[in-house]
Amino acid sequence: MSAGFQAPKGIPDYVPPVSAQFLAVRDELTRAARLAGYSHIELPVFEDTALFARGVGESTDVVSKEMYTFTDRGDRSVSLRPEGTAGVMRAVIQHGLDRGTLPVKLCYAGPFFRYERPQTGRYRQLQQVGVEAIGVDDPALDAEVIAIADEAYRRLGLTGYRLEITSLGDNSDRPQYRALLQEFLAGLDLDDATRRRAEINPLRVLDDKRPEMRAATADAPLMVDHLSEASREHFEAVLGHLRRLGVSYEVNPRLVRGLDYYTKTTFEFVHDGLGAQSGIGGGGRYDGLMAQLGGKAGLSGIGFGLGVDRTVLACEAEGVTPGDTARVDVFGVPMGAAAKDRLVVIAGELRAVGIRVDLAYGDRGLKGSMKAADRSGAAVALVLGDRELEAGQIEIKNLRTGDQHAADLDSVVAQVRQVLDTVSVDAGHLASQDL
Ligand code: HAM
Repeated sequence: MSAGFQAPKGIPDYVPPVSAQFLAVRDELTRAARLAGYSHIELPVFEDTALFARGVGESTDVVSKEMYTFTDRGDRSVSLRPEGTAGVMRAVIQHGLDRGTLPVKLCYAGPFFRYERPQTGRYRQLQQVGVEAIGVDDPALDAEVIAIADEAYRRLGLTGYRLEITSLGDNSDRPQYRALLQEFLAGLDLDDATRRRAEINPLRVLDDKRPEMRAATADAPLMVDHLSEASREHFEAVLGHLRRLGVSYEVNPRLVRGLDYYTKTTFEFVHDGLGAQSGIGGGGRYDGLMAQLGGKAGLSGIGFGLGVDRTVLACEAEGVTPGDTARVDVFGVPMGAAAKDRLVVIAGELRAVGIRVDLAYGDRGLKGSMKAADRSGAAVALVLGDRELEAGQIEIKNLRTGDQHAADLDSVVAQVRQVLDTVSVDAGHLASQDL
């Protein structure tokens, strides 16, 4: 390892070839949202600290322990965004999107920041693709959001994950349940930290993974058994839609998420090949968030955040390689200065019609150049020397089959296309560009 600069602790770099998988995962997750009519939204990477304190919840670990908060040169307290939902709500309110057609359906992708203890799959700069559907409380919309994530994971080729889902109730039933749970917890012999947690967020105690706590809370009252009629119907309706959509789920009444804004439907996608950091995505409904941030009362929303980093790890764990591992389709090998001049132009012509091309730069000889062509993943090599130039020809080599033929220099673009059409992998790449 060099003694020079390193990436900040707990922050992954994505360098080739893994960076291609990172992009493929992010694109697939985003594509699934696009297919359901979610429009792109691009938001600041830092915002007013109070937005997250009020939106995400002051008592959450995310806000109280993990935010990158600093005072800027204008003496304002700002924080790097730890998640996306609060920022989206802020933008919806600020730009009056909630006065248009509802639901407002938005999709975002980018980095988020949490000062967590780094380990595999837990990073201080994490990448998410998220969606938010705001302004309509319809169980079919909850199911749509969940099905988008499920479809994206499936299209990536993942199979080793499951969906856990529960309902956290709403303002009409949660306060009574909370009191009931606190009463139950008060009867237990709890350590100081857990007692404090029981006061601030008793639900979190049910998520305690220690065996002794599991045993102590085995008979604790559960929210799903204390839902109001309306919340129960809502939950049943969501599950019904999921069954019809063919999305498998497990109801986990102890599912607790790390953010305070959730109401009713709450879910998490868990991958069993990832060890401790197994949540590859999660989300839920948030009835009160809009009003809490100064927007219209009564407008609820539902959304998810899918972890791109962890989905890449899940693909690795399952031996799935999403995306195109080839860097280019065509690799040009010039033998001599005049040939290079011509190949530079041909490369431009091929790129202009959407074919990916690289050249052997640096005059490294035929053997070295052909090695570079192989490493690039190209399906076709174009070899051009003085002899071919004089004859107005170019050698086109199919690197998959080894077949090689001379073609007219003037028809090189059409000839390359013809060869590429016979190579299925690259044909797939070209077709996917149409989307
Ligand atoms: P979250 O569960 O905090 O939800 O994060 C969503 C996903 O981001 C997680 O399931 C996980 O895959 C990934 N993730 C979180 N923290 C880390 C980390 N330190 N390192 C790597 N990956 C991580 C939210 O952020 C909500 N805003 C989701 C949402 C949108 N709910 C409603 N709308």
